[in-house]
Amino acid sequence: MNKVTVVPGDGIGPEVVGSACAIIKASGAKVEFEEVLVGLRAEKEFGTALPVNVLESIERNRLALKGPTQTPFGGNYRINIERVKNGKESRSDYPSIAIALRKELQLYVNVRPIKNYPGVASRFKDVNLVIFRENSEDLYVGNERMIDDNTAEAIKIITRGATERTARYGFEYLKKTGRKKMTIGHKANVMKLTDGLFLKAGQDVAKEFPGLACDSRVIDALCMELVIKPESFDGLLLANLFGDIVSDLAAGLVGGLGVAPGANIGTDCAMFEAVHGSAPDIAGKDIANPMAIILSGVLMLHHIGEIAAADRIEAALTKVLEEKKHVTRDLGGDAGTRRFTEAIIAKL
Ligand code: NAI
Repeated sequence: MNKVTVVPGDGIGPEVVGSACAIIKASGAKVEFEEVLVGLRAEKEFGTALPVNVLESIERNRLALKGPTQTPFGGNYRINIERVKNGKESRSDYPSIAIALRKELQLYVNVRPIKNYPGVASRFKDVNLVIFRENSEDLYVGNERMIDDNTAEAIKIITRGATERTARYGFEYLKKTGRKKMTIGHKANVMKLTDGLFLKAGQDVAKEFPGLACDSRVIDALCMELVIKPESFDGLLLANLFGDIVSDLAAGLVGGLGVAPGANIGTDCAMFEAVHGSAPDIAGKDIANPMAIILSGVLMLHHIGEIAAADRIEAALTKVLEEKKHVTRDLGGDAGTRRFTEAIIAKL
C-alpha cells in the first residue's frame, strides 16, 4: 500500500484535492492518504505556511498530491525553514512555498503532459506532447544583484550534471511511454556557453537512447512552430526559464491552465500538482474544475505503477467530458465540483 501525503492548500485547493482523492479511492488504487496543512491555514494554526512536519511527511511517504497555495505579491514574504537534516541543523528561506518544496525535496524535473481532451475547447487537434523542464538551476537560482541604482544583474547557471539527470529522466519517460522523439529547446546561438552546454549535455544523453530520435530548435523558432503545428512535437527538453514559459504556452494550446496537470520529480520524492493557482475568486463555491488535479493524480498512479487504476480514471473522466452533461462552467456545463466528481466516480 502506497501512502501519499495530501496537501489541500489554499482557495479552491481543498475542494479540488478532495475531488481527486475521492476518485483515486473509488478507482481501487492501493493508496492511503496522510493529510497535512500548508498555506494560509497552516500559518494561522502553526505560525508558518510550511511546517517542517510537511517536509518530513513527504520525505517519509516519498509521494505527495498538492493543491495550490497562495503566494502574496511583493513585500517581505519569505518561507523560513529550520530543521535538522541528515544530522545537521539546516536553515533556509525561500520566496514561495512551491520553491521551498522543490528545493528542500530536491525535485529536479518538472513534467508537464499536454494533450487535447474531448469537450475542452481548443484551437488545435491531436496535440499530445510532454515537457521536461529542468527545475533547479538556470536564472532561477535567484543569484541577482544591483550593480548600481540603474543596473541589475542575474547569474545564469547551467551544469552538465543537472541537465543530464533531467534529460535522462525525460528520455526514459519517452521510452517507457512508447513515444518517439525529444526536441531540445535552447538559445545556444547567443548564450553559447550556458545554453551551449545544455544542448550538448542533452544530445550526449540522447546517444544512450538509440531507439529515440532527438532534434533541437532555437527557443524562439520552437515557440513559433508550437503555435503553428503543435501536433508535430512529442517530448520537449528545456532549461528552467524557457521551460516555465513554454509550459504555459503549451497549456494554452489545449484549453488553458485549468486543465493542465504536472509532476515534480526528485531522486527520492515526487510531488504531483495542478498548474493553476488557488483561484480565490471562486473558492468555496463548488464551481472549481478539479480536472487538472485529477489528471495529476493519474500521473501519480502511473509513477507508482498503478497503471490500471490510472487508465480507469482517465477513461471515466474522458467519458464525462464527452457527454458534457456533468461538467463545470469553465467547460461549458453547469455542474459543480461535487457533481462533476460524482459523475466520474459513477463511470469508474
Ligand atoms: P489562478 O490560477 O488561481 O486563477 C486564474 C483564473 O483562473 C481565475 O479566474 C480563476 O478563477 C481561474 N481558475 C483557476 N483554476 C481554476 C479551476 N480549477 N477551475 C475553474 N477556474 C479556475 O491564478 P492567480 O489568480 O494568478 O493566482 C491566485 C493565487 O494562486 C496566487 O496567490 C498565486 O500565488 C497562487 N498560485 C499558486 C500556484 C501553486 O501553488 N502551484 C500556481 C499558481 C498560482
